[in-house]
Amino acid sequence: STGHFTFDPGFAATASTKSAITYIDGDKGVLLYRGYPIEQLAENSSFLEVAYLLLNGELPSEGEFKTFEHHVTHHSMMHESQKHFFRGFHHDAHPMAMLCSAIASLSAFYHDDLDIEDPEQRKMAAIRLIAKMPTIAAACYRYSIGWPFRYPRNNLEYCDRFLHQMFEVPSEPLEMNPVAAKALDLLFILHADHEQNASTSTVRLVGSTGANPYASVAAGIAALWGPAHGGANEAVLKMLEEIGTPDNVESAVKRAKDKNDSFRLMGFGHRVYKNFDPRAKIIRKTCHEVLDALGVSDPLLDVAMKLEEAALKDEYFVERKLYPNVDFYSGIIYKALGIPTEMFTVMFAIARTAGWISHWIEHHETPGSRIGRPRQVYTGATPRDYVAMGKR
Ligand code: SDX
Repeated sequence: STGHFTFDPGFAATASTKSAITYIDGDKGVLLYRGYPIEQLAENSSFLEVAYLLLNGELPSEGEFKTFEHHVTHHSMMHESQKHFFRGFHHDAHPMAMLCSAIASLSAFYHDDLDIEDPEQRKMAAIRLIAKMPTIAAACYRYSIGWPFRYPRNNLEYCDRFLHQMFEVPSEPLEMNPVAAKALDLLFILHADHEQNASTSTVRLVGSTGANPYASVAAGIAALWGPAHGGANEAVLKMLEEIGTPDNVESAVKRAKDKNDSFRLMGFGHRVYKNFDPRAKIIRKTCHEVLDALGVSDPLLDVAMKLEEAALKDEYFVERKLYPNVDFYSGIIYKALGIPTEMFTVMFAIARTAGWISHWIEHHETPGSRIGRPRQVYTGATPRDYVAMGKR
């Protein structure tokens, strides 16, 4: 119909879709993937198992998992021609710029899974995306430091394989660190899906036009990049470095409250969580364990803890129900793993690929899904006559 619609800036009160993938109760701080509490998945599952769960709706049997893992492992190579793409980038290109373009370009390589009507091809695209994302992400990093790309080692598990592709130094023996791989796997589980966040909504909207899965996910990567969304993890670390010591925390909190100052506490606040983000709780706890196990001591952790304490006591943050979100502590773990700050949002993208493509598939599997097409409240000029250039 025309004429009657609701004005809802930022979609705060509009459900754009039905979905059976992820449930959030923002007041109670509850997050479920396919009904399973995030705390239980974080404790017992693995990222690949969670990816399977998000995609298929059920936890896999041993056989189903082995088959899925086999496919993800054997599609992890990057097409040799795709490496030419990278050579076109300036060496200091932001890794998110490279990632976004490289993922979009996959649709130029895999014509055999672009038929969105075919469930088998949709699954194949999902596997290729989950498989290739770490390879392409590691290539973004290695290109930026001028190192040769590494082929994926198929005898390694998902996170080990990625860490190897990131950090392996030619001619040095390969040493995998189980603590690092476990920490990374946990962060990937926590970032895997989050219902209709901005990037997932973008993937669904782009997908609703019939665009191919690679183009749809590339759009999601672009949406994730912004500092109000996935780019916050990079922004948090830069903010903590800028604050520098716990002594400067009070003045940072003061600045964040000042409406005339554009400074905001990055990693704080959430559209849906008006209680603690359950993912932030898990990461905060893990942060200490991981740093201890890796033998890393990072003064930025003290700054982060002091900042959280100061904000949670402050009337401004209490009144507005602003709590640390998933991005507040994740960067400290990434940093301890040796991942450079510019790569943090790329890390988020690797994990969220599982959610994006699950939502893209759900859209196509749902009868009656139609193109996303919001309306607007027009605020422009009333009808008027064209004036010739010489008479303006
Ligand atoms: C992610 O949606 C998802 O699910 C996202 C995500 C996922 O997994 O996909 O969870 C991942 O994107 C986490 C969010 C990362 N972003 C940041 O950490 C950036 C800092 N946070 C904010 O920009 C903000 O809180 C948002 C973007 C997260 C939420 O924005 P909303 O819902 O539009 O909040 P709002 O602007 O309505 O805020 C309400 C009030 C405002 O003050 P008043 O105008 O009422 O006086 O709180 C203030 C805001 O100015 N406020 C902050 C603040 N966040 C909100 N003030 C200071 N510091 C902040 N961080």
